Amino acid sequence: MNPDARSDASGWDRRFSLEAYAYGEEPNAWLAERILDLKPHGLALFPADGEGRNAVWAAGLGWQANVFDLSVEGKGKCERLAMRHGVSVKYEVDDLVARGFENPVYDLIACSWFHTPSAIRKKHMPRMLNALKPNGHFIMEGYHTTQMPLTSGGPKSLDLLFDLDELIGELTGPFAPKMKVLVAEVVTTVLNESDLHRGEARVVRIHLVRADGNQR
Ligand SMILES: C[S@@+](CC[C@H](N)C(=O)[O-])C[C@H]1O[C@@H](n2cnc3c(N)ncnc32)[C@H](O)[C@@H]1O
Repeated sequence: MNPDARSDASGWDRRFSLEAYAYGEEPNAWLAERILDLKPHGLALFPADGEGRNAVWAAGLGWQANVFDLSVEGKGKCERLAMRHGVSVKYEVDDLVARGFENPVYDLIACSWFHTPSAIRKKHMPRMLNALKPNGHFIMEGYHTTQMPLTSGGPKSLDLLFDLDELIGELTGPFAPKMKVLVAEVVTTVLNESDLHRGEARVVRIHLVRADGNQR
């Protein structure tokens, strides 16, 4: 697969065009747990935040929350959620593969369930970390490869699921700035986000900190 090929938003737009929030309106529990410990509340990027639940929640805490995601429908849902919570979120409809991450401006980058084909992931997820300030945090949760037989959500393709060693190798590899690993684990958890994400699940949880000021 060409790692620079643009991604198709139509499936996500269909999913997000329904009235209900596909993954609920509350933030992802792992992201929330880690983000609650971070101070001060600076500038945060929520890549692939879909309907904006993580960004809206963080904005409510005082973070200046930015999102990029493929989905126009997701943007509309995020704006409505933000309005209901009396906060504002800057949401750009954009593709990971096309986006520039040259400027180290974010105190926090956090994403949940951001699964992309491995060719794209290997190059572009680590590239995203260049947008962190020195000491900026990267927090993510995604489905592990052992999620395959389970029915609590996630893509049914091994290529889209995360292997922990491979992922950490990528996020600390040549496309990324220097990162210190605070948490990198595979856990069995019980999800209760929505009908799509409910029940026992196998997930990877990552928390990294940018350990240098230099871009590669
Ligand atoms: C499973 S949803 C998760 C949404 C959100 N993070 C949450 O937990 O509620 C995956 C999201 O990834 C987005 N996405 C997938 N590939 C992307 C890409 N290449 N660039 C930007 N967003 C992408 C989709 O549009 C979708 O919103």
